[in-house]
Amino acid sequence: MKAAVLKELAEGERRVAAVPATVEKMVKAGMEVCLESEAGLASGFQDGEYREAGARVEPSRDGALDGAAAVLKVQKPSGDELDRIPEGCALIAYGLRAGTDLSQKLRDRRITALSLDLLPRIARAQSMDVLSSMANIAGYKGVLLGAGALGKFFPMLMTAAGTVLPARVLVLGAGVAGLQAIATARRLGAVVTGFDVRPVVKEQVESLGARFLAVAIEEQAEDAKGYAKEVSADTARRQREAIAQELRTTDVCITTALVPGKRAPLLVTAEMVKGMRMGSVVVDLAAEQGGNCELTEPGKDLVKHGVTILGPLNVVSAMAYQASQLYSRNVLNFLLHIFDKQRGAIAVDRDDEIVKACLIAHQGELLQPPP
Ligand code: NAI
Repeated sequence: MKAAVLKELAEGERRVAAVPATVEKMVKAGMEVCLESEAGLASGFQDGEYREAGARVEPSRDGALDGAAAVLKVQKPSGDELDRIPEGCALIAYGLRAGTDLSQKLRDRRITALSLDLLPRIARAQSMDVLSSMANIAGYKGVLLGAGALGKFFPMLMTAAGTVLPARVLVLGAGVAGLQAIATARRLGAVVTGFDVRPVVKEQVESLGARFLAVAIEEQAEDAKGYAKEVSADTARRQREAIAQELRTTDVCITTALVPGKRAPLLVTAEMVKGMRMGSVVVDLAAEQGGNCELTEPGKDLVKHGVTILGPLNVVSAMAYQASQLYSRNVLNFLLHIFDKQRGAIAVDRDDEIVKACLIAHQGELLQPPP
């Protein structure tokens, strides 16, 4: 089976879906790997390294795609890109959805579309969990962005000229990204507070040496899968009061709160930003899903009421080398899961819990994933 690795064309995307180490494993498993020349360059991997790993490097995209049975990508392809993917091919990427402008093409071209961001958060799929890999990077990088924009030290310093107090960091949403942000800010020496609607998170936040911001939540804010649910207006009001109070003494607020399938919850209002100290920073890591801060403009860095508000998009692309390594390992594990070694072909088992969750289109049929 031939697997094609394509260069990402989306603006600002520097990652690649296979790195030389994962190509080597694919070749060992019996696959033929074809790379569009320079596909890995933006993330720091040269064509020669892919050749050494056993890939064929094709100068053109069409050359890499010719005869491919699987196409590996990071971002979902544009309509034009999709037109060039061979009919009946398996497409493994991120952010593919039925009911979008691509649906018709996926159906007409009988593409088997598998969207890795929809994988179930079960133990068996942990090694394929792109959401966790990328959230870890985002949480780390978010803190560095915040530290870079803050004109203050993070750690406490005792100097002959006097003592500098540590920065105070508030992390809203303590899932994978939030916990990594808490750990990173702590390592830099800040005094950190974390908040989440899921009560189970309190212990995790405290185990990282941070304080948990307590808000009395009387409803069940977690669904059966462990994800946060949208909270009632009353709970949201109580949360905002507690967050507003905390923000008055916060230097950097990192927001990571998401609810699957919904717009990111609004946790930091314009009024709260007004109440923050001059020179403080909000890093809104939920900017792609609309933002947790009312003043966030996705993709922009702003200063409002003396507070810097960063709304970075695709934060992980700024760490493309390791983001590609982790993403590629997730892709490899998924690919090996659906690869039938005996037949040397992709075998789509629609009853498999992992496949079922991320299968968007198959053999001309569009499949709407569960929300
Ligand atoms: P996410 O990216 O969907 O959301 C980030 C965080 O925002 C979550 O912790 C969520 O509770 C929080 N949040 C949502 N609404 C909020 C609000 N109004 N105020 C404050 N916080 C709010 O979450 P992520 O990081 O993807 O994790 C989701 C769940 O999946 C967690 O329970 C996590 O433990 C679990 N998980 C399981 C894995 C597995 O393989 N078993 C792997 C990774 C995560």
